[in-house]
Amino acid sequence: MSAPETQDEPAAMRRFYPMMRMGYTAAVLNNPKLRDGMVILGIETSCDETAAAVVDGERAIRANVVLSQLEEHRPYGGVVPEIAARSHLDHVDSLVAEAMAQAGIDFDQLHGVAATGGPGLIGGLFVGVMTAKAIAAVRNLPFMAVNHLEGHALTVRLTDGIAFPYLLLLISGGHCQLLVVAGVGRYRRLGGTIDDAAGEAFDKSAKLLGLGYPGGPALERAAEGGDPDRFQLPRPMKGRPNCDFSFSGLKTAVRHAAAALKPPLGPQSQAVKDLAATFQQAVGDVLADRTTRALEAFRDETGRNGPLVVAGGVAANRYLRGRLAATAEAAGAALHAPPPALCTDNAAMIAWAGLERLRLGLADPLDFAPRPRWPLEALAAPAVPEAVRS
Ligand code: KG4
Ligand code: ZN
Repeated sequence: MSAPETQDEPAAMRRFYPMMRMGYTAAVLNNPKLRDGMVILGIETSCDETAAAVVDGERAIRANVVLSQLEEHRPYGGVVPEIAARSHLDHVDSLVAEAMAQAGIDFDQLHGVAATGGPGLIGGLFVGVMTAKAIAAVRNLPFMAVNHLEGHALTVRLTDGIAFPYLLLLISGGHCQLLVVAGVGRYRRLGGTIDDAAGEAFDKSAKLLGLGYPGGPALERAAEGGDPDRFQLPRPMKGRPNCDFSFSGLKTAVRHAAAALKPPLGPQSQAVKDLAATFQQAVGDVLADRTTRALEAFRDETGRNGPLVVAGGVAANRYLRGRLAATAEAAGAALHAPPPALCTDNAAMIAWAGLERLRLGLADPLDFAPRPRWPLEALAAPAVPEAVRS
């Protein structure tokens, strides 16, 4: 499915914008002080969190507000796209105002505005993108359409300030991939899931166990009181020579095991806790095995032992963070993981990715159309000298 073309601003604006962008880009690239002193507003509306944040070029998060739509979707057991889009529309303006107030700045003090341009639910993407474009147009600011996955991928440069290249394990509700991150916009996929994403496996398994929505955190809580060796579950793809994942067989095995349990299921049941712990351990075994393989591939390609970066909502899981720390250590690599609140969806990561892009002169035109599907590898490599990329 491809996004429809938008006709959302007058032709005069579209003609004017590239001129403004060129002038701005040259000024920024030639002025390190301006690059470090940049202040960017970010907006995230791709799924079920409405979020706005302000970050600066010295890696300070000046404001970060997130409004979860959890309660609106809970009765349906998952995200309802139309409800999500309407809720984003209801709340985005006040969240932007709140972020700006928290940062203590006026729109005139911004250097650019970023919004998630995809991948995600089209209704929500439109709300965030249109909001950012409106602010950019009124204030004559550059607009950056950020790939949500790039937001996750670069968060660790905001939190830990690490340099390129690094190996990225991206584990979220919609994605499970291992990538070499060579620079902004420069991603090479080593492997990924051939069916479900890791977060999807958590969410579906939690549902089967009567743990409700959202599944990931609920399953982690249930697993804390469980025996991980009570059940037998498969470790799909373990030992394979490539860096791919598969989670659908694991989910089916949970379905069969859950069907054999005595009802009622739910967080009080000891059998459910045991099955949750077994599932989580199986995911940990698979992630550790696949990541070990990818660390080898990364070493072959770059001559370096890591660093390993883990990002995306599933990276908020404490057990899995521990497993990945051990995996990295065994390979002689450092592990970097953003704090849990910056693993799940937020706008600080969007503002930061926008800032990184603007520093390289990579603003987007105001006729950018949101992209519900937008693989990381499809991002164009920045056409700027190597010297300004690190
Ligand atoms: O990155 P994210 O917030 O949204 C997407 O871009 O998909 O990731 C959401 C996913 C959901 O599947 C959620 O269940 C999972 O991350 N998740 C967790 C935990 N917290 C969130 N999975 C396991 N353990 C957690 N603590
Ligand atoms: Zn995400």
